Amino acid sequence: MYRELPVEEAYHIQTGGPLIMIASVSEDGTADVMTAAWNAPFDTDQPLVVLDKSHTTSANILATGRYVICIVSDADTKSAFAAGSCKGRDVGDKFEAKGIPSRKSAKLGLKVPDGCLAYIECELKESEKPMFEKYGILVGKAVGVEADEKYWPEGAGDFREGMKHEVHHVSGSVLIRGGEITG
Ligand SMILES: Cc1cc2nc3c(=O)[nH]c(=O)nc-3n(C[C@H](O)[C@H](O)[C@H](O)COP(=O)(O)O)c2cc1C
Repeated sequence: MYRELPVEEAYHIQTGGPLIMIASVSEDGTADVMTAAWNAPFDTDQPLVVLDKSHTTSANILATGRYVICIVSDADTKSAFAAGSCKGRDVGDKFEAKGIPSRKSAKLGLKVPDGCLAYIECELKESEKPMFEKYGILVGKAVGVEADEKYWPEGAGDFREGMKHEVHHVSGSVLIRGGEITG
C-alpha cells in the first residue's frame, strides 16, 4: 500500500546530496558562508547547487566568480544551522558574527568553515552566469579539491570513510546520517 501525498512534498522524498556549506566573499572582501541541501554532481569536476537568488552568497558568486563547497561533517552540524540562519548582508562576516571556526582554502585562499569533511573550490565561468542568474542553477568548475586525509588517505580508492560522516537534510532542523557499505 502506498499513500498519496501533495506534490509539494516531492522534494521531501528526494533528498539532495550531502548537506554542504558554501563559502564566498563579496567584492569588498567580506567573507560569507551559507548552508545548502539541494546539490549534486553535474559532471566529474562540475558540482551543481540550487541557490535562491536573494542570498548574499548568490550576489557574491556573481560578482567574484569564486566559491567553495564545504561538505558538512556530523561532528559539527551546529555551524551549518548557524550559517543557514541569517544573511551575510545583514550581519557582515558571518564567520565572526556566528562564531564559526574558519581556515583558508588551499587554492583560492577563501575563508571556509574549519572541520568539514572535504572542500571543492570552484570558479563560475562567464558562460554559466546567465543560467545561475535566471534559474538559480549554479554549475561551477572545480579548481581544487581537499579531503580530510583521515577519511581519504593516500592509496584509498574512494571517500567511503568520509561519506559515513556526511549528513542529509530531511526537513526543518532534522538531518539524517548513516549507511553501511553495500554492494
Ligand atoms: C539545513 C538548511 C538547508 C538549506 N538549503 C538551501 C538550499 O539548498 N538552497 C538555498 O538557496 N538555500 C538553502 N538554505 C537557506 C540558506 O542557507 C539561508 O537562507 C542563508 O541564510 C543564506 O545566507 P546568505 O544570505 O549569507 O547567502 C538552507 C538552510 C538550511 C538551514
